[in-house]
Amino acid sequence: MTVTEKNVRDAAPSNAPAEVVDWVVKIADLTKPEAVEFCDGSQEEWDRLTNQMVESGMFTRLNPEKRPNCFLARSLPSDVARVESRTFICCEKEEDAGPTNNWADPKEMKITLKEKFTGCMAGRTLYVIPFSMGPLGGPISQLGIELTDSPYVVCNMRIMTRMGTKAMDLINEGAEWVPAVHSVGVPLAEGQKDTAWPCNDEKYITHFPETNEIWSFGSGYGGNALLGKKCYALRIASTMARRDGWMAEHMLILRLTDEKSGKQYHVTAAFPSACGKTNLAMLQPTIPGYKVETVGDDIAWMRPGPDGTLRAINPEAGFFGVAPGTSHETNPMAMETMKENSIFTNVALTDDGDVWWEGCDEPLPEHLIDWQGNDYTPADAAEGKKAAHPNSRFTTPAAQCPIICPDWEAPEGVPVDAILFGGRRATNVPLVAEQYEPAHGVFIGASVASEQTAAAEGAVGSLRHDPFAMLPFCGYNMADYWGHWLDMQKTVGDKFPKVYQVNWFRKDEDGKFMWPGYGDNSRVLDWIVRRAAGEVEAVEGVTGLYPKFEDFNLDGLDIDEEKWNKLFAIDPEAWEAEMKDTEKYFEQFGDHIPAEVAEQLEKFRARIAAAK
Ligand code: GTP
Ligand code: SPV
Ligand code: MN
Repeated sequence: MTVTEKNVRDAAPSNAPAEVVDWVVKIADLTKPEAVEFCDGSQEEWDRLTNQMVESGMFTRLNPEKRPNCFLARSLPSDVARVESRTFICCEKEEDAGPTNNWADPKEMKITLKEKFTGCMAGRTLYVIPFSMGPLGGPISQLGIELTDSPYVVCNMRIMTRMGTKAMDLINEGAEWVPAVHSVGVPLAEGQKDTAWPCNDEKYITHFPETNEIWSFGSGYGGNALLGKKCYALRIASTMARRDGWMAEHMLILRLTDEKSGKQYHVTAAFPSACGKTNLAMLQPTIPGYKVETVGDDIAWMRPGPDGTLRAINPEAGFFGVAPGTSHETNPMAMETMKENSIFTNVALTDDGDVWWEGCDEPLPEHLIDWQGNDYTPADAAEGKKAAHPNSRFTTPAAQCPIICPDWEAPEGVPVDAILFGGRRATNVPLVAEQYEPAHGVFIGASVASEQTAAAEGAVGSLRHDPFAMLPFCGYNMADYWGHWLDMQKTVGDKFPKVYQVNWFRKDEDGKFMWPGYGDNSRVLDWIVRRAAGEVEAVEGVTGLYPKFEDFNLDGLDIDEEKWNKLFAIDPEAWEAEMKDTEKYFEQFGDHIPAEVAEQLEKFRARIAAAK
C-alpha cells in the first residue's frame, strides 16, 4: 500500500499551511511511503514511537530504574559517523563551494537524487517534523521541516530541536522555513521485515545553498540524518549568515560568572569534532571564585545586537555528545544530564540494562553486549576491541543539564566577550595565545589544524587543517568565509570579541598530556577574562600574546616555571615548517584568500625570524 494524496491531506493538521502540505504530497508521490504522519512533538508521540522501536528491535529499553525513559540503538559498522566524502555542496559555480568541499552541479545532483528517492520509502512511514533552530519565534531563530522515514530520527530531533506543533504554527504564520528530506534508503517490499538499523551503502548528504534545500540519503546516523544540526544549522545557515550579515559557527557557548563581583562573561569556542566542546561547555572550575553555566555545546549563531555587542544563541535544544571518555571525573554535568529521557547510540549494554563505555565511571564488567550486539568480556578488551564505538553518542535534553544557563533560551542571545579556537595538537601550539589584532584572530581561526578523531571517516590521529573547526561544515568557499569574518569584525568594531588560540593537548617527550585539562581549563578562562578586564599584561610571542607565569593561576598544580615554559615553548624551525604548510594550504584558495589573511602569514614569518 502506498499513501495517496488524500491520505496526506487527511493526515495534515489544521495548522499545516497549503504550501507545506503540497510539498509533502509531492515527496510522498516520489518516495511512495506506506503511511504518513505529521509529528506534534508530544509525549504521547514519543512514547508511541519509542515503544514501536522497542518492538521492531531498533531500540532496547534501558533499565527503567537506572535510566528512566532511555533507549539504546545500535547502528551498522558502515554507518557510525558523518561521511564527509559523501557530503556535497550543490551550488551553481564550483568555485563558490571552494576546494575544501565536495561540489556537485545542482541540476545533475537533482537528477541523481530523484532516482535515489524514487520509491525509497516503500513499506515505511513518512514522518513530517516541523522544527525551530533556536527558541521559538526568536529574532535569531530559524525554522525547518524535515521529512524522514526513520522513527529514530524523529525521536532524536525531538530532543535536539524545538519540534512539533508550535514550530508548525510559526510556519503557518508565514515564517521562512528550510525543507529537508531524509531517507535511510531502504525500501521494504510487501511483507518484508525491517532490520534493526536500515541504511544504504550508497550515501548522499546534499545541500543546495542557493535554494536552501537539504536532501540526505542512505544514512541514519547523527549529522548525516538529524538535518537540523550540521546540514541546516551550519552548512545552510553559514550561507544564509553570509548573505544576511550574521555568523553560524561550530562553537560551544558558556557563561563564566566571577562570583565575587557578580560579573558575567560569555565565551564561545570552536574545536573540531570530538575535541572537547561538550567538556568545556560544562566545565567545573578547579579554581575558586568562578561558576560556569552552559548555553550550548556544539553550534552558535551570532549576530550584532541592538546594543552593538555580538550576541550568540544555541540553535539546538539537546546535546549529541561523544560517550567514550565521559565520566563523573571528566564531565560530571554531562553524566547528570543523561540520567533520563535520553537515547544512546552504539554504546555497550550491561547485564543489568544500563550503558557502559570506555572511560565511564564503572570498571569493565565481566560481561557486556558490545555496540554491535555481541557478547563482550575482558578477553575482548585485552585484544584491544572496544565495547562502545569511539564515536558512540548520547542524545540528551539540554534543559536537564544541572548547570544550564538561566538565559540559554534568551531569544536575543548572550553577549560574547571572547572567542576561543583550539584543536588536538601534540606539538607546537602553546596552551593559550591572544590575538595581536582582529585580522590575526581570523588568521588563528584559519590556520587551525587538529589530529583527526572518530567523529568522521578517515585516519584517526593524522593532522589535518580544520579552519575555524568548520572544514566539514562551511556551506561555501572557506576563504570567502574568512572574508566574511573580517567583514563582521569591521561591522561590530571594538565590540567584536578578541580571539584566543588554546591547546589542551600538548604532549611531553613521553607522550603524556602536559596540561591537566578539563576543570583546570578554568585557569585559562580566568586569565582570558582578567585580560578582558585589563587587569593583566601579556608577553609578545610568535603565535600571539602569552600570559606571564606570575599572572597565571597555577595554585595546587604541579607545574613549575620549567614545565610552564615547555607549555609555551616555540621551536622556530617547527613553526617555519608549519607556516610553509599553511602557505601551501592557503594557495589552493587562489585569490579568494583575503589580503589581510595573507598579510598575517607574513607578519607571522617575521615573528619567527625575530625569534631565531
Ligand atoms: P562534537 O560533538 O563531535 O562536535 O565534539 P566535541 O568537541 O563536543 O567533543 P567532546 O567534548 O565530546 O570531546 C570529547 C573528547 O575530548 C574526549 O575524548 C575527552 O576526553 C577529550 N577532552 C575534552 N577536554 C579535554 C581536555 O581538557 N584535555 C584532554 N586531554 N582531553 C580532553
Ligand atoms: C560533529 O561531528 O561535529 C558532531 C556530531 O557534532 S554530528 O552531529 O554527527 O556531526
Ligand atoms: Mn560538532
